[in-house]
Amino acid sequence: MIQSDKANKRAVEQGNDELLDLEAKYCSWGDTVHYADKLNIFNRCEGVYLYDREGTEYLDLQMWYSAVNFGYKNKRLNQALRKQLDSLPQLACQYLHEEKIRLAAKLCQRIERTFESKGRVHFNVGGAQAVEDSLKLVRSHTNRNLMFAFMGGYHGRTLGTSAITSSYRYREKFGHFSDRALFVPYPYCFRCPYDKKRDFCDLYCLKQFEKLFETEYHSVVNKKTNKCEFGAFYIEAVQGTGGYVIPPYEYFSRLKEILDRYNILLVDDEIQMGFFRTGKFWAIEHFNVEPDVIVFGKALTNGLNPLSGIWAREKLISPQVFPPGSTHSTFSSNTLGTAVGLEAMKLMEESNFAVEVPKKGEYFISQLMKLKNKYPQIGDVSGLGLALRMEICQKDGFTPNKELTDAIANIGLSGNLSAGGKKRGLVLDVGGYYKNVFTLAPSLYIKKSEIDLGVELFEEALKKGINSIT
Ligand SMILES: Cc1ncc(COP(=O)(O)O)c(C=O)c1O
Repeated sequence: MIQSDKANKRAVEQGNDELLDLEAKYCSWGDTVHYADKLNIFNRCEGVYLYDREGTEYLDLQMWYSAVNFGYKNKRLNQALRKQLDSLPQLACQYLHEEKIRLAAKLCQRIERTFESKGRVHFNVGGAQAVEDSLKLVRSHTNRNLMFAFMGGYHGRTLGTSAITSSYRYREKFGHFSDRALFVPYPYCFRCPYDKKRDFCDLYCLKQFEKLFETEYHSVVNKKTNKCEFGAFYIEAVQGTGGYVIPPYEYFSRLKEILDRYNILLVDDEIQMGFFRTGKFWAIEHFNVEPDVIVFGKALTNGLNPLSGIWAREKLISPQVFPPGSTHSTFSSNTLGTAVGLEAMKLMEESNFAVEVPKKGEYFISQLMKLKNKYPQIGDVSGLGLALRMEICQKDGFTPNKELTDAIANIGLSGNLSAGGKKRGLVLDVGGYYKNVFTLAPSLYIKKSEIDLGVELFEEALKKGINSIT
């Protein structure tokens, strides 16, 4: 390394140290930053890559938990944002602008074509706030406060959404949740909650759920009136934070039959899986069922703006039942977010993601399967479209191995890998009930060569991880 490079590196390191000292003192640690051992400070991004202040390139296989489906610094979407900045960058949400109306129309028309249901869209900021709005809608339509939700489900961390998010750790410090959901086992076949084998189970888990409705003494329904105490079932068609768990094809349609008998609504949280992550516009489209409410966020603006929203069937959200002022937030349908969202919708209409995403997913899985065959520590590899999962286990291929998972994630973030002939890093997201699942959500534009690089980097990190803990 020549003298001036060395001096630059020292200056960057000193700058990093100063920033990390300030962070340690002045930033709340209540978010998820300090889950990691080593804290990275990034200052540039492009396509599938993030760059730290030293210029090290990190291949990103999680894309902001699927908020950046269309790649970092997507030119077309950034341009839409710039254009809006120069025309109508600010407007109180009480007044109308064209992009909001056109975006709502596009979403509703697409849903109408897919599910043959008429409905309306209501915008908000951030996934959890949109889920909160859906809770209001369910409460107002059904007059019921209680919800079913899944074990392993994640719907956000506001007070309202914490009540239907499965993790007790997220609720523990914040008092009593009187309207906590009844959490039902998700059809997680690799780790079946009932120790069944999928080929022979005939959806035993669903039968257990159905049993709750057999008598009033199972505590959910009055058999004399058929009135259920629960207003809706909150689902993720593919569980996100729970570890990209894919249910059996017929599960949701059979679940919906049960729900319909008791007028329980089906709320489909597409915040992480929507917008072609799984190869279809909504993940629920894989499962032959029509939801009553859809909640969306994240990738609608490719991560440029926290725009989120709900779509609901007309009977739930018509002006008669959800009148002006039912819910509101200052930034809810802001001009910048709706302009980018509208452009993202056009981009999706003009793209061929429905064909390309499953193809890329299949190739990615085939490469990961080669690793699985080589390393017994990889217990399960599967995916839907480009929502891919890899369970890291002990050598028996089943017992969750969080220690190795953490080691691999930290090695990726250290930026000291060398696959592809230069110093690089790898950004991975960890999820799953046992925090042993790599939930891969690469850019939908990822190229074959970048998938190959990702697999190579992962193998290098895996080998180093195995050596570091044995
Ligand atoms: C399925 C799902 N629902 C809700 C949320 C909450 O969204 P936000 O973090 O934008 O509040 C998330 C976030 O990861 C999610 O994955």
